[in-house]
Amino acid sequence: MIFEQIATGGCQSYFIACGETCTAAVIDPEVRQLARYQALATQYGARIRYVIDTHTHADHFSGSKQLAQLVGAPVVAHQTSPSPYVTMRVDEGDVIKVGNLRLSVMATPGHTRDAICLVMSDRVFTGDTLLIGATGRTDLPSGDPGQLYDSLFNKLLKLDQGLRIYPAHDYKGHTCSTLEEEKRSNPRLQKKERAEFVAMMQAHSPSMPEHLTEALRVNMSGGTSVAQLLSEAAAEVPFISMDEVKNRLDKSVNDFIVLDVREKDQFDAGHIPHAKHLSRGQLELRVNDAFPDPTVRIVTYCEVGKISTLAAATLRRMGFTRVLALDGGMKSWREKGFPVEGAPQA
Ligand SMILES: [Fe+2]
Repeated sequence: MIFEQIATGGCQSYFIACGETCTAAVIDPEVRQLARYQALATQYGARIRYVIDTHTHADHFSGSKQLAQLVGAPVVAHQTSPSPYVTMRVDEGDVIKVGNLRLSVMATPGHTRDAICLVMSDRVFTGDTLLIGATGRTDLPSGDPGQLYDSLFNKLLKLDQGLRIYPAHDYKGHTCSTLEEEKRSNPRLQKKERAEFVAMMQAHSPSMPEHLTEALRVNMSGGTSVAQLLSEAAAEVPFISMDEVKNRLDKSVNDFIVLDVREKDQFDAGHIPHAKHLSRGQLELRVNDAFPDPTVRIVTYCEVGKISTLAAATLRRMGFTRVLALDGGMKSWREKGFPVEGAPQA
């Protein structure tokens, strides 16, 4: 068996493949590692046949939808998964055949309603049901401490004690453990009575993950995160440095229009000298009047450089093929002490 564990911060994802049949699966892909999974498939000469999510993640962006599209494989998740892009729904006892490897699905609700563990002959992918030295939390949407107790004590921990466990998270640098070791030393598993376990989980309230609502929105809908939108826009747009813009303004040799896409009151409070104003919200509707010549060279800027990147990408898609975005924004422009026009007199 080919096995690769890929960590992204505290998130763990797994590439497994059957060497005889050149068939692979990726478990809990992270959106920033898509190229890595594809590179592993190339390295091992395997085709990714399944993309599997052990549950709906609330703390990071799942790469399942994109990876599945890239490699032409189904997205596998529990039948109760809310994601519309899941194309192969599985349930307790189902077996996913990755060439000659067998992944048995064990429904283990608790961390989320749609949580599953994937059991192989010598190991089990536990998702966030069982972590090394911990368990998944139960206070996020669809979590239930009573169900987690049942999933752990009445199902997962009854498997062969020698099974290695590979969780979806580890924040302390561990890579794997065994059921036996966890049963012995995992503090959460020392509460063996259901009521005790539930009380412990209810008392446990770690801080909410960053991007909670955004990750749920993206993972449940298959939509796009703000970071993805920005990186896609940045990939379509060339940038120009602030020093270069200032040099050209100083020498009056600028052959471009500096376009401020912030709100009008921000523009009025001070802008780059000679800049024109057209807010991002009005861009598509007013651009024809503002710039009748689509070959005009435009440099967009905003306060920090994000909205201006989106604006430049929009203009490029609309046919303004010489648009650039400022590398930075008005905030950095001011901090550099560069000239500001229209600023109220102190
Ligand atoms: Fe999770």
